[in-house]
Amino acid sequence: MTMNFDSIPRDHLPALLRAMPKAELHMHIEGSLEPELIFALAKRNGVVLPYASVEELRAAYAFTDLQSFLDIYYAGASVLLREEDFFDMAMAYFRRAAIDHIVRAELFFDPQTHTERGVPIATVINGLARACETAQRELGVSGALILCFLRHLSEAAAFETLEQALAHREHFIGVGLDSSELGHPPEKFSRVFTRCRELGLHLVAHAGEEGPPAYVWSALDELRVQRIDHGVRSVEDPALMQRLATTRMPLTVCPLSNVKLCVYPTMAQHQLPALLEAGLCATINSDDPAYFGGYLNQNFIETFEALPQLTARHAHRLAANSFEASFAGAKDKLRWARALDAAFAAAVRQGQ
Ligand code: HPA
Ligand code: ZN
Repeated sequence: MTMNFDSIPRDHLPALLRAMPKAELHMHIEGSLEPELIFALAKRNGVVLPYASVEELRAAYAFTDLQSFLDIYYAGASVLLREEDFFDMAMAYFRRAAIDHIVRAELFFDPQTHTERGVPIATVINGLARACETAQRELGVSGALILCFLRHLSEAAAFETLEQALAHREHFIGVGLDSSELGHPPEKFSRVFTRCRELGLHLVAHAGEEGPPAYVWSALDELRVQRIDHGVRSVEDPALMQRLATTRMPLTVCPLSNVKLCVYPTMAQHQLPALLEAGLCATINSDDPAYFGGYLNQNFIETFEALPQLTARHAHRLAANSFEASFAGAKDKLRWARALDAAFAAAVRQGQ
């Protein structure tokens, strides 16, 4: 569809960013646990936290790198014990997602964070799957689950987790790879990803957040992923940029996360414009919104505010990319893309 995006005044952009339909493809459900909910669940489950109050916990959210965040993120997840806890956490996210006009959310979850504490994988998956069904029915948000392997643990542990999860195969659409990136290259998980591909699961992996471009190459060639999570360090490697552009390999970029974890000193230095200029299928996502200062619309607003070269055309491109990169069915993707065009057509008419 050709539209004259230039007629949309810049001061209409924040409202349009908020209202446009969009998909979120990189969101760790454990990273949506707000301090208030952490304390409520701790009380409900009799878990003692190493923080005296919500304020004290929030004050600890001053991160210097990925590991400094992960230490607090895993501590926060320790309050999740029962199926209801996982359900309540995911429903809180879906309600926020509906407000941000997210029509599709593909949620990461970390089963090993819970099974290592003695929580059965069935408890985790059943609670999250029930939230996905409820979100569709009550909020009209399409949800799906992607099981992430923790890369600081062994490939044998990933295989064991996969075996346990396969009893619930109908409840997740794919697998991913997260946690401490440096020192744990994608190829450490080649065999388990091969097995997942044989099982017909979708494949994604975090790469090129703190790790070098070589990790992105390895995720592509060794793990044969369908999307790269983060991938922002790809800009350091022109040949990699070429490969990502020509194959329309999606990158699920998380701007607020990148600033909070010091991947970039400020948002103004974020490389999202360069990724889009090079023709990559880049998307905007919130990663761990309870920890990084904002849900998806906040990511859009702050990114566009700090980077004036981003225009209404880029906003449309980013939302269109999110549907293109999603693992939803073709009919849904077409419907969402049409709703996106309708939102922009209305904004163009309003600007004239
Ligand atoms: N990177 C790696 N692991 C994670 C992240 C992230 O941004 N968020 C939650 N687990
Ligand atoms: Zn992530």
